Amino acid sequence: MLAARGVTQRFGVVRALAGVDVDLVAGEVLSLLGENGSGKSTLLSILSGARRPTTGALLADGRPARFRSPADALRVGVTLVPQEADLAAHLTVAENIWLGSMPGWVVSRRETERRARAMLEELLDLDLDVTRLARSLRPDEAMMVSLARACARRPRVLLLDETTASLGGDAVARFLEAVRRLRDQGMAIAFVSHRLEEHRAVADRAVILRDGQVVATRDWRETTEQELVRLMVGRDLPGFLAKVSVRAGDVALAGKGLRLGPKLRPMDLEVRHGEILGLGGLAGSGRSRLARVLAGADSPAAGSVSVDGRAIRLGSIAEAARAGIGFLPEERKTMGLLMRMSVRSNIAVGARRELTRWGLVQRRAERQLVERLSRDLRIKAASIDTTVGTLSGGNQQKVVMGRLLAARSRILILDEPTKGIDVGAKAEMFKLIGAAVEDGCAVVLISSELPELLGLSDRIIVLRGGEAVAEIPREAATEEAVVSAAMGVDKAEVHYVD
Ligand SMILES: Nc1ncnc2c1ncn2[C@@H]1O[C@H](COP(=O)(O)OP(=O)(O)OP(=O)(O)O)[C@@H](O)[C@H]1O
Ligand SMILES: [Mg+2]
Repeated sequence: MLAARGVTQRFGVVRALAGVDVDLVAGEVLSLLGENGSGKSTLLSILSGARRPTTGALLADGRPARFRSPADALRVGVTLVPQEADLAAHLTVAENIWLGSMPGWVVSRRETERRARAMLEELLDLDLDVTRLARSLRPDEAMMVSLARACARRPRVLLLDETTASLGGDAVARFLEAVRRLRDQGMAIAFVSHRLEEHRAVADRAVILRDGQVVATRDWRETTEQELVRLMVGRDLPGFLAKVSVRAGDVALAGKGLRLGPKLRPMDLEVRHGEILGLGGLAGSGRSRLARVLAGADSPAAGSVSVDGRAIRLGSIAEAARAGIGFLPEERKTMGLLMRMSVRSNIAVGARRELTRWGLVQRRAERQLVERLSRDLRIKAASIDTTVGTLSGGNQQKVVMGRLLAARSRILILDEPTKGIDVGAKAEMFKLIGAAVEDGCAVVLISSELPELLGLSDRIIVLRGGEAVAEIPREAATEEAVVSAAMGVDKAEVHYVD
């Protein structure tokens, strides 16, 4: 249905793609695999008409196709769900879904809303208030709406760039089910995700990119994860995370009587120096909200937070930061990267105080610090002076983490730190979190990937409906225990497929 032939993309001296050939076939899901910065998003933006390649050609149904814009691509049935949902913030869910795919004069607002509801329900089995403004949606909800919007355009070729990264387990399952159904209806689908198990669940064929080149094509039935990882990363990775075991010290961070909403039950929690507290729960259960309250980004309805025994003013990020709290929020857009500035400046702001002497920034110390962190985090950039706005999504995320580590905060609040991070860099990320903990840091961790949450946490508090419903020590922390608490069912009622 759609093919790339010899596609090359240069950005100045950076060669993002080099002579790439791919074929998207009707009724097939094609995995695009590769490390952060290997060229996946660039390839999809070319296939979707958002970008014209430096050289090379596209074929639609075997005939040469010249896309000057996404609208051109849509005319032959190609549409993209981008890595960051790009809904119109001031429009409702219904308006976003039908924007540009329904002639305005045929339908009333009521009808638009009815069709939007039906679309979400049929496609994703999702019951969402379609009159809400897009700006009020959680990241996972925004992603679902973005997918519904793409499907409303009735595409023949659907390009999915990390659509699952902000979804929790239950939503991922529903989403993958939708992908399979669309494929069975004859759609050609390109699928990008850093979670191999998702590929295994939907994909037929895999194309592996490294440094902008196709290094291999594999049939999913005839390959192993180990082989794919080796092809992507160029080396074997150590097995799963080894948990560092540290003797926990004094209480670093404590919340007392915290209420996330006026009618909700209050909760108490404590994290000690050298300890990782995991927060479990489904999307919308209040994990991110609790993280934001602890980090001073939101005010709770009631309660107090103290650091090393001293109460801090709530609802002030600056005050929390002064008290030693470092925060990695869930949404990249709000992470406060200075997109026009270099990797170096973005990481070094975290350590500005330490790096300044007599009012001057110590340039050499700064460069050493930034170079070490970008090596440790495997940030892919031409140099540390590269502009952050030109990095791939995953590499931007690593820069935010680098800034946090540079600041040497004593308390780290990490909301989905590995979202969008490739398999190779994840291992490095865990090592760095482990090193911080050995150093006496206290960590609050949110991860929708249960093996990650279970593997790293010393203790897990499970939230449901904005309230803490269980506290599970490491010894008892199994997937079953967390899931059943998160869903509010008896363990005996949890059934697993596979
Ligand atoms: N506008 C741009 N200007 C300069 N370089 C760019 C630009 N866009 C992308 N690049 C570079 O092209 C390369 C490929 O980036 P791309 O976003 O396609 O990677 P990706 O495989 O999608 O990575 P990720 O998994 O992190 O999303 C990277 O080295 C990136 O820095
Ligand atoms: Mg990308």
